[in-house]
Amino acid sequence: MKGIVLAGGLGTRLYPLTHVTNKHLLPVYNKPMIFYPIQTLVNAGVKHILVITSGPHVGDYLGVLKNGKELGVDHLEYAYQEKPDGGIADALSLAEDFADNDSMTVILGDNTTDADISEEISSFKEGAKIFLKKVNDPSRYGVPIFDSKDDKKIIGIEEKPNSPKSNFAVTGVYVYDHKVFSYIKNIKPSARGQLEITDVNNEYIKKGKLTWAELHGYWGDAGTFKSLFNANSFWANKDQQA
Ligand code: G1P
Repeated sequence: MKGIVLAGGLGTRLYPLTHVTNKHLLPVYNKPMIFYPIQTLVNAGVKHILVITSGPHVGDYLGVLKNGKELGVDHLEYAYQEKPDGGIADALSLAEDFADNDSMTVILGDNTTDADISEEISSFKEGAKIFLKKVNDPSRYGVPIFDSKDDKKIIGIEEKPNSPKSNFAVTGVYVYDHKVFSYIKNIKPSARGQLEITDVNNEYIKKGKLTWAELHGYWGDAGTFKSLFNANSFWANKDQQA
């Protein structure tokens, strides 16, 4: 199992903070944001990690992450996404050589969680597995549609729907087999001009190869001022209660 952290994009929703550095290096309480997804992977035993990045501050990563040893990473690689606004699936396509036919756990670099995903990772065999979390504001996220006859079965995922068909968010934690790269080659850019990870997940659904698990514990993304503040506040409180 390989690990991939997607840490590209321009972070425009966080201007002027992201004029200083890449979004994923901004502080979340006492650590740069990207430490959290890396720690989630390392805690789950995934220590062979690729960080995919882009934008004007890519050089900042080396000085912060170095070779990953301080974070418990055995092998750290970097890849550069030429189009910072190409989308999550475009960024992931750069991992094909690194994955080398293995399965991979992918985490969006602005997602932080205290969930332990090690069992879900070790039991993974093929297809795709996504992690869901109940939220109050599903229209900000990818939202699953469940089968009306089988409420455990996902029949589709909608990206940021105006009228969400469930109150679950698709979190930015995914496990894929190597077929993900051929699905990425099949999809077309969305209305916002990006190759969407939701379209890749829908390809797995069409093939009957997508499973899901609920993410237990805290989960949040940090791409807006409000969600960045909430993430800071969660991790500060957790530390103070420890
Ligand atoms: C992305 C995905 C979305 C997912 C979210 C989780 O959204 O497109 O499906 O629910 O991450 O953080 P974005 O951060 O690009 O708005």
